[in-house]
Amino acid sequence: MKVLGIGSSPREGNTDYLLGLTLSEFERLGYEVETALLRNLNIQICDGCLTCEKTGRCHISDDMSEMYKKLEEANIIVFATPCYFENVSSLLKIFIDRTCPCYYWPNKFRGKGLVLLVAGEIEDESKENTINYAKTYAIIMEMNFLGSLWKTAKNADELVKDQNVTDEIISFVRDIDTRFRNSLR
Ligand SMILES: Cc1cc2nc3c(=O)[nH]c(=O)nc-3n(C[C@H](O)[C@H](O)[C@H](O)COP(=O)(O)O)c2cc1C
Repeated sequence: MKVLGIGSSPREGNTDYLLGLTLSEFERLGYEVETALLRNLNIQICDGCLTCEKTGRCHISDDMSEMYKKLEEANIIVFATPCYFENVSSLLKIFIDRTCPCYYWPNKFRGKGLVLLVAGEIEDESKENTINYAKTYAIIMEMNFLGSLWKTAKNADELVKDQNVTDEIISFVRDIDTRFRNSLR
């Protein structure tokens, strides 16, 4: 079983930390894990040509070509994002827009699990809006939304200093694992 973690903060900070802990725990449970940090990839914006509607492929030649293969192989996809203006980061939104061809794949992302990790400063509408956005994406792509974890933090090193995060992630990933295995029955 493969887990693909997509990190979408422009900086090395809370989001990367959450993703690292989460993937380590998946690995401990026997999953094969892989990380893609969007800030290190060349992923251009969707140009809206809509040719993917007919072909299921994107004509743009960049690092997304490799990501389509990784997405196809993944059983669980983990979106890790800082909350920006009450939603996912622009890096993640650009990535999501570029998954438009996958919507036209015969099975879309059917059966794949989606997990959301968010680092955000204020736990108000920001949390609800960001989680709802990811849930909606899962519905559109016919994925199984397995759960979300919001951690409140502002400065880049804040979560590293939080002693409780590791235990929280361990029980979060164990719940996700149970939910995912049940969904396969
Ligand atoms: C442009 C920008 C917009 C932000 N908007 C929000 C927001 O709407 N809600 C929120 O809770 N935090 C917001 N934040 C705070 C970040 O989500 C927070 O600092 C987070 O810990 C950053 O994660 P990182 O360390 O992984 O980059 C914003 C930060 C930036 C730079």
